[in-house]
Amino acid sequence: MTGLYPERVREKRAAFLAKAPCRVLAIETSCDETAAAVVEDGRTVLSSAVHTQIPIHRIYGGVVPEIASRNHVEMVGPVVDKALGDASLCLGDIDGIAVTAGPGLIGALLVGVSYAKGLAMALDLPLYGTNHLAGHIAANYLTYPDLEPPFTCLIASGGHSHIVRVVSYERFELLGQTRDDAAGEAFDKVARVLGLPYPGGPALETLAREGDPNAFRFRSAFNEGDGTDFSFSGIKTAVINLLHTAEQKGERVDRADVAASFQREICDILSRKAVRAAKRTGDGLALAGGVSANKALRLALTEECRRTGIPFFCPDPRYCTDNAAMIGSAGYYAMRAGRFSDLTLNASASLPLTEL
Ligand code: KG4
Ligand code: ZN
Repeated sequence: MTGLYPERVREKRAAFLAKAPCRVLAIETSCDETAAAVVEDGRTVLSSAVHTQIPIHRIYGGVVPEIASRNHVEMVGPVVDKALGDASLCLGDIDGIAVTAGPGLIGALLVGVSYAKGLAMALDLPLYGTNHLAGHIAANYLTYPDLEPPFTCLIASGGHSHIVRVVSYERFELLGQTRDDAAGEAFDKVARVLGLPYPGGPALETLAREGDPNAFRFRSAFNEGDGTDFSFSGIKTAVINLLHTAEQKGERVDRADVAASFQREICDILSRKAVRAAKRTGDGLALAGGVSANKALRLALTEECRRTGIPFFCPDPRYCTDNAAMIGSAGYYAMRAGRFSDLTLNASASLPLTEL
């Protein structure tokens, strides 16, 4: 059966390459959001449906992979139907299917990949297994219709923090990365020790608004160098030590001040390193990933880029955290470049961006 599909689909692949307008149905199930979208010509979002599992996982303080997979199984069909309905389209109007193939939670990814393969086989449609991080980068194409590679991009999500050069729609060169925690992971861990609910990043940002960002200095020597790699574990440990020491001494610490000072340090590091990388490449700088929803980070980068004369791009907040529209854009450009997956497509928990 696997062998038959590429043969039957050959005509539709050829049609896809020439089609205008060309509509991609995208599916994203890499973590705790079941999402589907219809994207036209890689740039125009006809619909973007997201079903979040946050209320389900909140009682556990984080994502429970098995529960996430089961919820994706329940929701993927209804969410795809909603995306088609919101775009006033039916499956017959779709020219190709893009699905997140990794990185992410393996059980969660497999739900989307299996569903997309089933649809592609039933409809003889071209299929592409998209890298989730390439999707986050492509969120910028949905916000800036004229933005084209090359540019430099800071990706800051829950599982990854990279600075890459987007050489073309599908080619990425690593310029810098975290040596330990991802930015979102650091936000989530510090939020947890501050007693904030899951997901920690947005809750910490809200608390930080009431605090003084200059109240504490959470420095880590690694980030002072002139490289483009960075590290967050020392900063996270400094916050934890401060809170523990205060608790042992019976001293009161203003949690909002801690949140604001921590957020400021993370924003300083990310904006300094990303702007340094962009200066070296001579490119504009884009922001991507869930942490790009953070207003303090957007502001820090806007100011640092203005100061240094670097054009700055950041996605519409709707497309910062996980969604399928960004996958539709990335998948469209991959398929237009003649890259298609067949029914041997598999999910990969650790799919690297630079191997694409
Ligand atoms: O990209 P994303 O939605 O999922 C992954 O691919 O990981 O990113 C989720 C991460 C979480 O760690 C979450 O706490 C963080 O992004 N995040 C934020 C904000 N919104 C989401 N971190 C700081 N401030 C925010 N406003
Ligand atoms: Zn993500």
